[in-house]
Amino acid sequence: MKFFLDTANINEIKRINDLGLCDGVTTNPSLINKEGRNFNEVIGDITELVDGPVSAEVTSYDYKGMVKQARDLAKWADNIVVKIPMTEEGLRAIHTLSKEGIKTNCTLIFSVSQGIMAMKAGSTYISPFMGRIDDMGEDGARLVAELRKVINIYDYDSEIIAASIRHINHLEKAALAGAHIATIPGNLFEKLWTHPLTTAGIESFKKDWEAFESRNK
Ligand code: G3P
Repeated sequence: MKFFLDTANINEIKRINDLGLCDGVTTNPSLINKEGRNFNEVIGDITELVDGPVSAEVTSYDYKGMVKQARDLAKWADNIVVKIPMTEEGLRAIHTLSKEGIKTNCTLIFSVSQGIMAMKAGSTYISPFMGRIDDMGEDGARLVAELRKVINIYDYDSEIIAASIRHINHLEKAALAGAHIATIPGNLFEKLWTHPLTTAGIESFKKDWEAFESRNK
């Protein structure tokens, strides 16, 4: 399973990249806005720092505007993936861009049928939003599992990026449901490798070692 970072924060990306845990990055207009920096600069910095795919989202919502922005973005770096919203115009844009070899990530997927549409249009990645589906009282993990089943049955090339991951349980369920990738907010990463019993175990080993050393001086 691959891990992408769902952030536009360079320090978060550097930290996780240094651990060898960052296979790519996803951004969206809200994450870019949070950083308070220029869009071109942020995306430029991320694509330089990270070897894997970097999703940058279009801000036009009509076919012509999306295709124009996507073609421009794709020239910035080899690892750019253009994030396109799941709409009729978006599907048309994905279809055009896939024929040109431009990688796309179809975002804001909330149903199996939307996922199938994006796969058929030729999207490189599809992003079901687990957290937002759970917010509606539905089951985000089930959607991921069903999308994976469709990919397996029909041999679609698209990869699932489990998005809107809010806690460890989302990540673990995404992994078990067969998501190819999970895109994880920077502040959640630390929680993935920490456990109170690990911390307590280290403390007790330290204490016992100090006792051993003072007895053997
Ligand atoms: O990857 C999509 C993500 O950024 C949305 O997360 O928590 O706003 O639903 P959230």
